[in-house]
Amino acid sequence: CGIVGLVGEIKIADLIEALEKLEYRGYDSAGLAFLNNGKVQVEKTKGKVADLKNLVLDRIEQRINVGIAHTRWATHGEPNDINAHPHLDCSEKIVVVHNGIIENFRYLKNRLIELGHRFFSETDTEVIPHLIEEHYKGDLFEAIRKTVLKLEGSFAIAVMHADHPNMIVGARKGSPLIACEHGLASDVPPLLKYTKYMVPLNDEEIVVISEDGMKVFGFDGVEREKRAIEITWSYEDAQKSGFKHFMLKEIFEEPMCLVSVMTGRIKNGKVHFEELEGLKERLKNINFVKVVACGTSYHAALSFKYFLENLSDVNVDAEISSEFRYKRQHLKPNDVVIAISQSGETADTLESVRLAKRQGATVVAITNVVGSTLSRESDFTLYLNAGPEISVAATKSYVSQITLLYLLALKIMEIKGIWDEKHEGLIDRLLRMPEIFEKFLDQVDNIHQIAAKYKDFKHFMYIGRGYGYPTALEGALKLKEISYIHATAYPAGELKHGPIAMLGPDFPVFAVAPNDFLFSKTKSNIIECRSRKARIVLLTNEGNEEAFELADDVIFVSNSIDELYPILMTPAIQLFAYYVADELGLDPDKPRNLAKSVTVE
Ligand code: G6P
Repeated sequence: CGIVGLVGEIKIADLIEALEKLEYRGYDSAGLAFLNNGKVQVEKTKGKVADLKNLVLDRIEQRINVGIAHTRWATHGEPNDINAHPHLDCSEKIVVVHNGIIENFRYLKNRLIELGHRFFSETDTEVIPHLIEEHYKGDLFEAIRKTVLKLEGSFAIAVMHADHPNMIVGARKGSPLIACEHGLASDVPPLLKYTKYMVPLNDEEIVVISEDGMKVFGFDGVEREKRAIEITWSYEDAQKSGFKHFMLKEIFEEPMCLVSVMTGRIKNGKVHFEELEGLKERLKNINFVKVVACGTSYHAALSFKYFLENLSDVNVDAEISSEFRYKRQHLKPNDVVIAISQSGETADTLESVRLAKRQGATVVAITNVVGSTLSRESDFTLYLNAGPEISVAATKSYVSQITLLYLLALKIMEIKGIWDEKHEGLIDRLLRMPEIFEKFLDQVDNIHQIAAKYKDFKHFMYIGRGYGYPTALEGALKLKEISYIHATAYPAGELKHGPIAMLGPDFPVFAVAPNDFLFSKTKSNIIECRSRKARIVLLTNEGNEEAFELADDVIFVSNSIDELYPILMTPAIQLFAYYVADELGLDPDKPRNLAKSVTVE
């Protein structure tokens, strides 16, 4: 979602303009609020910012002193007029826009209902204005401070009060928020029109913006000294947060996506999926799961297969949707089918779901888009919460998919009574993954330099074994999608059955080979490739001492456990493809012949 708040001599048109610059963050509904003769007025609608603009067109030039607005990427509740932000309290004086997820909203909502509050939407956000109302005794800042202390999860909020006609208060914990003397926003672009000097808030900070300027406080109420940074980007650059392409920006968002996908789903060392309560009994005796997906989502399905099959007695059959739907299926009413789709609109995956349901199977959807056709037609839905992905080639959603599927696999194992220190260790390491990603992304120059060396090859062979194989498939897919270089992927052990015939000095190999229990096997394959004079790029983990002996170029990721390399190695294969495309002067965000969401067969 994107939020914005503006203070000063503004018009409704300014709020709309600001929202247009945040629309890349979500576009399933939009809304705004301003003060009109001392009363809060809210306008909101399902659809895009353009729909909101139509709604207020007759008043667009109206002058206002303060306003907040929101463009939504739904997480709780269908995208519709009621669930659109802003949300009001009972007195209709306090109005809030929110980006993020309030994990304890059900608990808070029940408490507030007991106290007599009435709710209209299904959103988690609506508890915020009501909680502020509970705490409000004339001091808006203090009421908001007390409120944010009670909120669990991640949020960036902007709040207005009818009795404080020239003030906006914002607060941040886990979701981005930028402030300046003229207002606040989820990102830089909407504020660039007003100033170049901005203050990115840290977690657990509250900002008060009024005629008297801007003040920042900690959640403890103590004022904090903040220094503004000067933004030197143009508007176009700013939309990509200074990154050259959306693809690169989205890869750099992966640490944040890891946090979002795990938020609320790991408690006391165990996995929680409120969404799957009704499926628990069925999962107890499950010994077979079918997974359907296309493209990158299919590769996430394969990682899930390796993970769950290696650690449990459950068989996983992952199939490409366009194959699944045209083959006889023998599903039984107790079977569970998992359908994975970033967009939730891929035609072949939707048809597969319909087929599975006709055979009586239960369908669990994994998607990034709330209210998508897939989520509506499935029995259960798990959301990726990765935020909009604009670049056509999937990047951050893939990391979220594998992570979510791993959590799901762990949940299945826990329900089946398969649980020991290994599982505890996995949870612990998953929680540390965002930090490891941050560190990895701090040193991407090496990958850039290697990519520049290989950009002129016409072919590439990706190889991997075990957990490395789905990663090799995804690496080859990324390279062909955006650089148009022919890339093929094989299980390393299959080389000798055909593909090795093609290798030579003009056909390099990209080996996905962490130092895991299969490394000695993959190593032999790499040596076979070298003896055919193929150049080798090796993606492995730190501490693999043989790396430089084996390969011409090496990309290292942190040391981890075998199961987690599919997550850890993903940014490396994505960045390699990205830099090859960029070095070739291609636009990786809009590859030729491809669409982000394939809604036709
Ligand atoms: C298209 C996109 C791919 C994506 C695939 C499946 O081909 O270009 O990036 O992986 O569709 O999309 P879905 O939304 O179902 O995950």
